[in-house]
Amino acid sequence: MVIKTNKPGAEIQPTMYGLFFEDINYAADGGLYAELVKNRSFEFPDRLMGWKPFGKVIVRNDGPFERNPHYVRLEYAGHPHKHTGLDNEGYFGIGVKKGEEYRFSVWARTADAAKNAKIKIELVDVSSQGERQAFASQELIINSSEWKKYRVILKPDKTFAKSVLRIFLTSREGVDLEHVSLFPVDTWKGHENGLRKDLAQALYDMHPGVFRFPGGCIVEGTDLATRYNWKNSVGPVENRPLNENRWQYTFTHRFYPDYYQSYGLGFYEYFLLCEEIGAEPLPVVSCGLACQFQNDDPKAHVPVSELGSYIQDALDLIEFANGDVTTTWGKLRAEMGHPAPFNLKFIGIGNEQWGPEYPERLEPFVKAIRKAYPDIKIIGSSGPSSEGEQFEYLWPEMKRINVDLVDEHFYRPESWFLNQGSRYDNYDRKGPKVFAGEYACHGEGKKWNHFYTSLLEAAFMTGMERNADVVHMATYAPLFAHAEGWQWRPDMIWFDNLRSVKTVSYYVQQLYSRNKGTHVLPLTRDNRPVAGAEGQNGLFASAVWDKAHQQVIVKIVNTSDKTQSVKLNFSGLKKSEKLTGGKLITLKSDKLDAENTLENPFFIVPEEKEVFAEGNILESQIEPYSFYLYKFTL
Ligand code: AHR
Repeated sequence: MVIKTNKPGAEIQPTMYGLFFEDINYAADGGLYAELVKNRSFEFPDRLMGWKPFGKVIVRNDGPFERNPHYVRLEYAGHPHKHTGLDNEGYFGIGVKKGEEYRFSVWARTADAAKNAKIKIELVDVSSQGERQAFASQELIINSSEWKKYRVILKPDKTFAKSVLRIFLTSREGVDLEHVSLFPVDTWKGHENGLRKDLAQALYDMHPGVFRFPGGCIVEGTDLATRYNWKNSVGPVENRPLNENRWQYTFTHRFYPDYYQSYGLGFYEYFLLCEEIGAEPLPVVSCGLACQFQNDDPKAHVPVSELGSYIQDALDLIEFANGDVTTTWGKLRAEMGHPAPFNLKFIGIGNEQWGPEYPERLEPFVKAIRKAYPDIKIIGSSGPSSEGEQFEYLWPEMKRINVDLVDEHFYRPESWFLNQGSRYDNYDRKGPKVFAGEYACHGEGKKWNHFYTSLLEAAFMTGMERNADVVHMATYAPLFAHAEGWQWRPDMIWFDNLRSVKTVSYYVQQLYSRNKGTHVLPLTRDNRPVAGAEGQNGLFASAVWDKAHQQVIVKIVNTSDKTQSVKLNFSGLKKSEKLTGGKLITLKSDKLDAENTLENPFFIVPEEKEVFAEGNILESQIEPYSFYLYKFTL
């Protein structure tokens, strides 16, 4: 292979490799959002879902938060040895670690402040017997008849994934409790309404160029009423109304009745996270159509003439992100703690829509956004590839409407990924750019994450990289999955209440993202440009130049079962330039269906070693089924 190091080609966008986030598989509530209490505001339709009351617990609906009016009243049980209280089950239990601090907080009041009411808060192991059941305990005195926020720190003396949070009355005076919350003190960046540290760290470690949120199908909802309404996700958390999660229902008709969106992880928190992990924010808003699978139901369509409030939501969102503090929404952002703009550059309108009703709705959004914010780049959608010809149907429409990028989705089997290495070689260079917004190789045999499917993703991505002039963004999907409550797989990062594991797909994405370079370098084999694997023995490759670090980076994926000799000829180096500081990073596995698991999270990880080249030639033996990444600093 010849790499023309003196002929840097197309620029690679800083947004090239990023992250797609959706609250599917308990990715937000129960996952990245570090809140440990389920149904903290008693707003699930079954008000005590997630709670087990005992004694005299009454649900009332005239609480201090207008949009979350329900709360509980605990009354004296009538006997000193009897108790009134309630247990919260958390999300598949409450995971806590020995010696770490957890902040319990609650809004509370008592009827007669002069007498003080008392509650006890405990972390309990309901599976154990006797006095050791509670392994963290604190008392709180409620001393006001006005609603007030109280806080206390719990420090468990054991690590336990399945704790229950128990709250009970220890005085004769009753109490009212609202917005009952428990967070680890040690969240990502220490934010009080924060994120789970290990999961956010994994996002940061990816060095993502872009972060798309809040989904996926939840952007549009099962019906219009349950679409993601970003305006409900900002302001004080206590007053963010609950929304049903579209993933209560899976495509295989499994049902998760307790899956709601608290909006505790809302648009402010998403923007902040983007800033903290160094990714461009890419919010997607509803285009006035419910999730495409309901599109033949006319009730799932907002008439084009009535899209006004939806378009206004998109415009207001841009103002929330970028407006100065004198604007309505910019002022709210400042009040929430971020007076400086978030510098939003992209917005997606609609998710994975495929019918003719989509372009006619997208168009008025595009006109309005272009008029008010000409610099914002707008992303339209081409529908899922599983619908065969649908790509062809929507691309011309996207060109006509003149969106900046088109979001393509492909969840396809091994054969598709093997055949699509040259997918982008002939894409129109004059039209909108590509955002490969959701993709993953779905194995036909073993359907969840394993080495071989990840290897094929790596192979396919060489084609994206070689075509970085037209592919400007790519995000694997979905991102997160709770091992005990998932609706979709494969996923990039799995977790339970205490642990997390990065799949091989994560490492593939990370190797690309952290070695994306700044310019494509021409790559030829036998005097022909390297394209897909056809006719090239299952070898896929791409090469990039990193201007800032003066590095040449070559990625080679061998999808065949044979070792392949590859001679890398770094042509075009000046005499004074030598290949130095050579590194080889490999990702390989003895078994094709091997995977990383919560029990064995580092089974397959990239391995790094130094390599030396002779002059500008490097002879390499690429092992069967392996991903090789060479990096040389000039
Ligand atoms: O990533 C899971 C789902 O796949 C997304 O919500 C949707 O856009 C697609 O159908």
